[in-house]
Formats: sequence, structure tokens, C-alpha cells
Amino acid sequence: MLTLMTPGIEDYALSKSEKHNNLLDQLMKETYDTMDFPQMLTGPIEGQFLKMMIRVTGAKRVVEVGTFTGYASLSMAEGLPADGKITTLDLNPRCLAVARKYIEKSEHGKKIEIIEGPALESIAAMDDRTELTD
Ligand SMILES: C[S@@+](CC[C@H](N)C(=O)[O-])C[C@H]1O[C@@H](n2cnc3c(N)ncnc32)[C@H](O)[C@@H]1O
Repeated sequence: MLTLMTPGIEDYALSKSEKHNNLLDQLMKETYDTMDFPQMLTGPIEGQFLKMMIRVTGAKRVVEVGTFTGYASLSMAEGLPADGKITTLDLNPRCLAVARKYIEKSEHGKKIEIIEGPALESIAAMDDRTELTD
């Protein structure tokens, strides 16, 4: 795994963070095994931070620009209530094939909607979607 922090700090942060689940572990391994730029992956520390932010803010609606293989989507979905929803946008079908596979396997996957295409176009189209005004 590529790290942008010094190894000691990364190890310390990981040791003090909630561990990610087995599904996210598999997703991370598949991303590093099969994707051309796996360093784009959100990863465990950032994923747990995003999940915590969802919980402490009480957010129920999330729009994510850049799904990649779904690590952040699934991390945030864990922090959302049962009626929460993430709309995640990406234009790369190869990344989204991996994301869909893990979203389908997750008990939180039903909270995640993928919109495939350029994010600017997807966001422009979303303005008219009534469910975003909930
Ligand atoms: C850094 S990765 C996102 C990491 C991801 N959030 C995660 O949890 O691992 C950036 C993603 O943005 C996508 N992307 C780049 N430009 C885009 C655009 N104009 N519209 C939609 N997606 C785009 C790429 O295909 C890539 O999957």
C-alpha cells in the first residue's frame, strides 16, 4: 500500500483507529491487485474518518464525486442511518465494476446509488431530481 505519511505516523494512526471490516479489506486487496492507480484508494484511516464525520454531523444525504472502487462510499454508508443515502459519481466503468461488486455484497449497499458519467453532467442532471431535496 502506498503511504503519503511517514510509516511511524501511519502505523500509529492505524493502531488507534477502528479496524475496517473484511469486505473493505477484500476491496482494498482487489484494488491493489487489479487497478492501474491503486494509490487513489481512500484507505482505512480516511475511511474511518469519513464514517465518523457522517455520524457526528448526523448527515443523511451524501454526494461523492469520484467513486473509484467504492471504499469511501462503503465507509460512509456504514456511518449513515438506515434511511440515509449516498449518490456517488464516476465516469470510469472499470472502477465502477469493482465498486458495484462490493456494494452488492455489503449490508449497507442499499444506501448507495451510483451514477456513471462525467460528474459535472451528473450533478447538473441531479438538480431536477426530487429525492435530493429530501
Ligand atoms: C481519487 S479517486 C476517488 C477515490 C474514492 N473516493 C475512494 O473511495 O477510493 C478519483 C476518481 O474520480 C474519478 N473521476 C475523475 N474525473 C471525473 C469526472 N470528471 N467525473 C466523474 N468521475 C471522475 C476517477 O475515475 C476516479 O475513480
